[in-house]
Amino acid sequence: MFQEITRKGIVGDRMKNLILIAAPGAGKGTLSKDLLEKYDYVHISTGDLLREQVAKGGELGKKIHEMQVSGGLVTSDIVYAALENKLNDPACDNGYILDGFPRNVEQALEYDKILSKSGKELGLVIVLDIPKEMLIERITGRFMCKDCGAIYNVYNKEMAPKNEGICDKCGGELYQRKDDNLESFENRYQTYLDSTTPLIDFYKEKGALHVVDGSKGHLYTLEQVEKLINN
Ligand code: AP5
Repeated sequence: MFQEITRKGIVGDRMKNLILIAAPGAGKGTLSKDLLEKYDYVHISTGDLLREQVAKGGELGKKIHEMQVSGGLVTSDIVYAALENKLNDPACDNGYILDGFPRNVEQALEYDKILSKSGKELGLVIVLDIPKEMLIERITGRFMCKDCGAIYNVYNKEMAPKNEGICDKCGGELYQRKDDNLESFENRYQTYLDSTTPLIDFYKEKGALHVVDGSKGHLYTLEQVEKLINN
């Protein structure tokens, strides 16, 4: 059994691993960052891992970039390699947040194998529930910090940066992701409906699924998730 949740700065017990499942723009990254401020989780975003490859350039980066901008999924072999490399980090033994993986049932079955090989626990699967209309505003209004990765939204007072284009946290420059446009969003959303939502039944059957309302403020979402991890 898991022991008490480890607070930031206190060395010790293991936390429940988390899988975040949600449509593009629902708030997986924001929730992860909120959790990291309080808990010693390792954050594993397959989207970020893939974007790191894109930033490195080369043939692989180019291939990933094309797949991401089109709104489709990147081929699983590329994703598994990036993920396994990250999960080998001993820091993950204390607990990690999987943000953006698994993305379809095939990846979930592969993840089951990874778990049994490594002796890691599935933990909690959290679905952030939010209507499509809200997602468009979240995607088109999202700005991120080039330096620290902080996430903002210019359409939401609570989430907007104090000074346009500048990160409140570190003063870094803010940018918009290449796939944060309406056309790419529609494709990403359709991919989510077709490929990712079947995971909801997959994890319900395992008794690991928890649905959280993602349409309210980010602190509300955090509070609901904290209730689950501290339970
Ligand atoms: P990925 O990077 O994972 O993107 P995504 O799933 O589309 O999700 P986003 O990062 O767009 O949104 P989010 O839910 O994190 O929202 P955020 O917190 O930023 O993947 C990108 C691509 O990589 C995929 O399309 C695919 O090609 C590829 N890929 C990734 N993983 C893969 C895999 N496993 N297999 C194959 N391919 C893969 O929030 C959004 C906005 O809302 C922000 O502006 C924020 O300020 C605001 N906001 C957040 N929460 C709230 C709140 N509660 N209230 C108000 N505003 C909020």
